[in-house]
Amino acid sequence: MAITSIASQNKIRIAQQFSRAANTYNSAADVQLDIAFDAMAFLPSHYKTGLDIGCGTGRISQKLSTRCDNLIAMDLAFGMLEYAKQNTVLADPSISWLQGDADSLPLADNTVDMLFSSMVLQWSDNPLKVMSEISRVMTSGSNAILAIMCDGSFNQLNDSWLNIDSQRHVNNFASAQFWCDAAISQGLHVNMQEKQYVTWHQDIRMLLSSIKSIGANVVLKSSEPTDTAFSQSKNTFNRRTLQHLETYYQQKYAENMQLPLTYQVCFLHCSK
Ligand SMILES: C[S@@+](CC[C@H](N)C(=O)[O-])C[C@H]1O[C@@H](n2cnc3c(N)ncnc32)[C@H](O)[C@@H]1O
Repeated sequence: MAITSIASQNKIRIAQQFSRAANTYNSAADVQLDIAFDAMAFLPSHYKTGLDIGCGTGRISQKLSTRCDNLIAMDLAFGMLEYAKQNTVLADPSISWLQGDADSLPLADNTVDMLFSSMVLQWSDNPLKVMSEISRVMTSGSNAILAIMCDGSFNQLNDSWLNIDSQRHVNNFASAQFWCDAAISQGLHVNMQEKQYVTWHQDIRMLLSSIKSIGANVVLKSSEPTDTAFSQSKNTFNRRTLQHLETYYQQKYAENMQLPLTYQVCFLHCSK
């Protein structure tokens, strides 16, 4: 029997969850769109070959492609790529769709003039490796614009779960400084900014559903990856657990009867 590493198992799970969410992603991912637009403000006006790492449904790739001669839109999740291919309105011939992993880019050295990635790299199990891959494929004088979820994201949810049990229900996010240092260690010049985004939800089910609808409901564990408790909520115990979670979250964080969820994002503008 083949032995699959924990990292590979996690990756398979990430790809499966995002593939499953391809049809619901665009209607649920408003904050991701805001973040991508903020990241795009750092883009150069024109470039020759661009790479969108973690293109998802392709809605950003389409915009990126208007500023370059060729765009490679890459994602780990086959389902996301299929959706992107079928739903790209202009079927822009300058976009090449590619399945691949940010931790091991399937591209030759010094081939990308502009590299973009929004809300993806926090899924990497190895930030140093990912930055070394990014630096490797960038041409001299090129830019990379990276928006990454970092430390402080989902803090209300994490705190509320910690009040319920000792299991891990929310992924660890590396700090913005950690990502910045990782990029610098790979020879990149980095300008970093951080920004906080908050989404508001009527109740805990809707809050957890906002995560599940975009496919981000994989909790990476050192042994086995599991879905968030929301996806296991069919049994009575979990319904009760959710009620406790809701009560704590409401009491501690609700404002105007709405539950906040924080996305802490670092924007790295890297040049080589
Ligand atoms: C939150 S979505 C962001 C999609 C798009 N960039 C946007 O802003 O709408 C994250 C995407 O990253 C992809 N992804 C996760 N890990 C990845 C990896 N190691 N390499 C490439 N893509 C990955 C997922 O499949 C998913 O499509």
